[in-house]
Amino acid sequence: MALIEWNEEFRTGIDQVDSDHRHLLDLLNNVYESFTNRLYPSKLGQVFDELVNYACYHFATEGEWMKSVGYPRHIEHTQQHDEFARRVVEMQKSFAAGKTGGLSLEVLTFMRNWLVNHILESDGQFRAFVKGKKAARSKPAVASCNRGVAAHDRLDRPARRV
Ligand SMILES: [Fe+2]
Ligand SMILES: [Fe+2]
Repeated sequence: MALIEWNEEFRTGIDQVDSDHRHLLDLLNNVYESFTNRLYPSKLGQVFDELVNYACYHFATEGEWMKSVGYPRHIEHTQQHDEFARRVVEMQKSFAAGKTGGLSLEVLTFMRNWLVNHILESDGQFRAFVKGKKAARSKPAVASCNRGVAAHDRLDRPARRV
């Protein structure tokens, strides 16, 4: 049974971002399943590798998007990404040092909190900003288009020959 199911609330409308988030959600559900079946901590090394990888490609993608649309909370958002990466590396080091006691539950709680606090909240705020930008951009375009058509009609009307 999945811990959290994908639903529309997670959707940002940016395909690459959504596919990365979905991947993280699948990973969380796998961790949860393995945790409930007591398969950990042997598989934890793989999970940390996946999380380090995710932090690398996903945060770079989001960062590019934020820069390209001039997201005003870009720096604050990036600090949260940095904190995620720092915590993952910290847990990975603990694992490598053989400190596995309680680590399965720690990573499970960490991933679940990240989905709720960062993906739904912070990435959600970014999604709202992108949507607002699109709406703001489309309004003048439609208005000027309508005006343009009217002007075009008038200019192109064939001159009446007398
Ligand atoms: Fe994200
Ligand atoms: Fe993010």
